[in-house]
Amino acid sequence: MAQASGSKVPDMGRRQFMNLLSFGAVTGTAIGALYPVVKFFIPPSSGAGGGGVTAKDALGNDIIVSEFLSAHVAGDRTLAQGLKGDPTYLVVTEDKSIGNYGLNAVCTHLGCVVPWNANENKFMCPCHGSQYNNEGKVVRGPAPLSLALVNANVTDDKIAFTQWTETDFRTGEAPWWT
Ligand code: FES
Repeated sequence: MAQASGSKVPDMGRRQFMNLLSFGAVTGTAIGALYPVVKFFIPPSSGAGGGGVTAKDALGNDIIVSEFLSAHVAGDRTLAQGLKGDPTYLVVTEDKSIGNYGLNAVCTHLGCVVPWNANENKFMCPCHGSQYNNEGKVVRGPAPLSLALVNANVTDDKIAFTQWTETDFRTGEAPWWT
């Protein structure tokens, strides 16, 4: 009985079934192939609370605050990997702790990474000459805006970067980067 009903499956139905199977196979393969690509664009969450990311050094290792501070002096501005992998300056304060803000190092003119110039106590962009003070506030164009801020909070000897959504303390204005 079952055999008889099996043989009565119309050709069209069988073809659609086969189409469905191959569609599944193709889309399954496509999703499998795309997964690493999609994952690449999703910012890593590395265990820091509140949706932030843990600051990492150039090698991709978590920065250990006690080790970091023993190797840096007050006033240092040091690049770390920040939110979305953006180069982000950590600030060592005058009392030799980690400043509660980090500075996105991407120039607001055309996107060069802006080096810190300790002698001038400024960030000076080599591309078109923009300058930012030691808090990342723009002091010379053509850059139209100050460097973007992020929150930098120390927990368990590591630094968690999170989005800065509060007023920009340098300008008293709403943050332009949110
Ligand atoms: Fe920095 Fe143009 S990209 S001044």
